[in-house]
Amino acid sequence: MATKHLIIGNWKMNPASAEDAKTIGKKTRSIAADLKRTEVVACPPFAFIPLAASRTSVKNFALGAQSASVDEAGAHTGDVSAAMLKSLEVEYVIAGHSEERAAGDTDETVSRRIGRILEAGMTAVVCVGEKVRAENGSHFDFLREQIKNTLNSVPKEKAKDVVLAYEPVWAIGAKEAMVPEQVHEMSIFVKKVFADVFSPEAAMKAKVLYGGSVNSRNAAEIMKIGQVDGLLVGRESVNPPGFAELLKAVDAIK
Ligand code: PGA
Repeated sequence: MATKHLIIGNWKMNPASAEDAKTIGKKTRSIAADLKRTEVVACPPFAFIPLAASRTSVKNFALGAQSASVDEAGAHTGDVSAAMLKSLEVEYVIAGHSEERAAGDTDETVSRRIGRILEAGMTAVVCVGEKVRAENGSHFDFLREQIKNTLNSVPKEKAKDVVLAYEPVWAIGAKEAMVPEQVHEMSIFVKKVFADVFSPEAAMKAKVLYGGSVNSRNAAEIMKIGQVDGLLVGRESVNPPGFAELLKAVDAIK
């Protein structure tokens, strides 16, 4: 069977209460269980991760986290280590989201986070994307550098544990997503750089996601025309009715 579509829900700092987190987790799991070709990952805020989990394993559903510490353990007040997340049965961890980069994360710290996530035996969902699109195409150079800087220290045998999420920063939390034809152009480029960093074989197997203002109406077109393996979804992932529609639309893609 072909590999499944991968839809990652980034809850960000939502919802406001534990009760709501339990409800969203439960609804997400029950939608996931009915899917055929799609794997759903919920990334709640750290405090709510255990609340989004179920006691038994659920078909097509995995837990994720929004970040992990650059450090392994010890005196780092406020931090959460990759090993802690692993012990909560987290399987995917986002690294380098643009909101964390805006708060001070750099390619160097993102690369250290990726190292911790991989060492702990989880999949790193590495976010990359340009802030602006330049007419002279300089955003391609920016993106190439960003991907190389963040992935250069990943050992070749760990390439299979890296998912690249291409998220043009200007399309995150915006009204409109990037148009699917442009997503296609960018997904080809991102795979090409991945091939340069690791190998063409690794790039063939790698999953590339698109993120930025994805909703139930645009998800299927972005996947089909954009030729991406999945989506990183913010707002729509904490809106169960909309997320259910989105997942059904994606699951219908053969
Ligand atoms: P959005 O967020 O879907 O709300 O635009 C996407 C993201 O930040 O990953």
